Amino acid sequence: MRLEEILYTQGFGTRRVCAGLVQQGFVSVAGVVTTDAATEFIADGLHFSVQGVPWLYQAKAYVLLHKPAGTECSHKPSTWPSVYTLLPGPLRQRPQKGPIQGVQAVGRLDQDTTGMLLLTDDGQFIHRMGSPKHHVPKVYEVTVKHPLDDQQVARLLAGVVLDDSPIAVRAAACEAVGPLHLRLTLTEGKYHQVKRMVAAVGNRVEALHRSQMGGLALPADLAPGQWRWLSAADLAAIKG
Ligand code: URA
Repeated sequence: MRLEEILYTQGFGTRRVCAGLVQQGFVSVAGVVTTDAATEFIADGLHFSVQGVPWLYQAKAYVLLHKPAGTECSHKPSTWPSVYTLLPGPLRQRPQKGPIQGVQAVGRLDQDTTGMLLLTDDGQFIHRMGSPKHHVPKVYEVTVKHPLDDQQVARLLAGVVLDDSPIAVRAAACEAVGPLHLRLTLTEGKYHQVKRMVAAVGNRVEALHRSQMGGLALPADLAPGQWRWLSAADLAAIKG
């Protein structure tokens, strides 16, 4: 693939801007500055840098963000900064694929929820992950206001009815790991589901953190606000 096209697919701007970046000597491939925008490279696995920023060619981008509290999973946030501002420009500007431009969050977390958020420009992946057929288990660490008792845990496991549906929703797993700390696994993602389930058993969520999706845990070295690429192995682990 031509170097200008590689940059374009990765979100570095229009084809004209990408050609300009190369011609002005801002792009190096394997440490060597290349000023001919038409130079052909094998795109898969290509490491290059643009204005000193290292990049890895990805036909589709899959990233993991450690969402900090006080951010909204929306491009047009109402009150808090958008999670998308935590990502580098090229990830947000990757060319339109179907209805999607740039990476999009795979499901949403509330403004005050922290932890694992996946983003991708792979529309099929977003669709699969949201589909009830796939049931990717998501683990939440929940800090509650009132001391937990066995009955609350039992009710969360047995199923509670929420206000928008007569069908009970239940936790796939639930354990009290401290007097005020619940570890809850859900396989669906209804609006405010953890908060509403905990409220339905007479308690209240004080803090919520998503620590695991499928078989992938949030890496301990990924600080709030940081992101990293997901590898093929990470994606396989998520799907289980
Ligand atoms: N459940 C909630 O209530 N909030 C979230 O952000 C995620 C799950």
